[in-house]
Amino acid sequence: MEMNQTTVSDPGKLQATLKGDLYTSPEIFELEKEHIFTKKWTFVGFEYEVGKSGHYITTKVQNENILIIRGKDNVLRAFLNVCRHRGATLCNNPCGKTGIIRCPYHSWSYGLDGSLLGVPNTTECREELVNNENYGLEPVHLQVWHGMIWLNLSENPLPVEQQLDTQIFDRFGDLATFSRYQIQNLKVAHRKEYEVAANWKLIVENFQECYHCSSIHPELTATLPEFRSGIGTQNTVSGAAKFNDELEAFSISGKGSRAMLKGLLPEDDRLYYGITILPLVFINLTPDHVIIHRILPISPEKSKVICEWLFDPEEIEKPDFDPADAVELFHRVNMQDFEACEWCQENMGSRSYKNGGILVPIEQHVSKFYDLVLESIGMKVE
Ligand code: FES
Ligand SMILES: [Fe+2]
Repeated sequence: MEMNQTTVSDPGKLQATLKGDLYTSPEIFELEKEHIFTKKWTFVGFEYEVGKSGHYITTKVQNENILIIRGKDNVLRAFLNVCRHRGATLCNNPCGKTGIIRCPYHSWSYGLDGSLLGVPNTTECREELVNNENYGLEPVHLQVWHGMIWLNLSENPLPVEQQLDTQIFDRFGDLATFSRYQIQNLKVAHRKEYEVAANWKLIVENFQECYHCSSIHPELTATLPEFRSGIGTQNTVSGAAKFNDELEAFSISGKGSRAMLKGLLPEDDRLYYGITILPLVFINLTPDHVIIHRILPISPEKSKVICEWLFDPEEIEKPDFDPADAVELFHRVNMQDFEACEWCQENMGSRSYKNGGILVPIEQHVSKFYDLVLESIGMKVE
């Protein structure tokens, strides 16, 4: 494979996209795992899911099973969910509550802080095992950012803020606008998972540009009429899209039934913001709910996307709460977007796309993402 990539063909007018094999090659995917997915912070869940001592959730990042558990000291920790004895998965449930972490295989037990506490039937070597911190659970770096739990599998990661706050600042020109949505106080009311036959980068670049909006998103452009121009919220710093004058809410019917999120200002009403948090997360802000996408790259040509709709818990508790109207709008957008990504993925190996395609001026902000990918995996940008 040719290990260099030219991104700019004619600055100002047309730019080249990534070449086709960047979307199909197992070798590139391995480089991305090593230099992007492992080095960057990965969003895996919400702090409220592990709110009390002993509460845990399990997840998978880069083929590693991970256990996230709140200790007796109230500290939230993450460990590889792997027994140090013979490697069995310790917790198989997606979530739960426990006073001790006990391996189902030979019943070694660990404290909520990961230390090895008990090894049955081993009087001869029990002391040697239990008093040796090497046999405790392998920790994983964890940080909470706006109520979202982020993990990092590298040895010495940069602080989570360095990855995330800088992107928020670049997107809004400040940190305050995003903070007003108080994601740490919201809860998931609906979750959908999508299997997408496309490379993760196609999903990211599609989310970043709105050139496709008038072609494939009739419901979205009816809600946000300015998207018909192809200029999305991410074309400019602090860009937001205003709702159609006739609509009350960001929902398929356009009817509003929920209060604005606490913390928002009057000027935040009737606005939508799309935010890409590279490499794998999208956050959508609306006045009464927040939608968060996370991409799980499965293979060069397959990804899973988890999309969650978050609301104020006070709204969720109301007897007539029904998120269906809000869910339906972005679910349709998701289906339309992911189908379009699959149209492209099918031809990434085509002779026609060997040297990549073209970004027209309205979508050229996507090239920053290309640069990040190419720089991370060490492919020279000329
Ligand atoms: S593998 Fe866990 S106790 Fe044996
Ligand atoms: Fe789209």
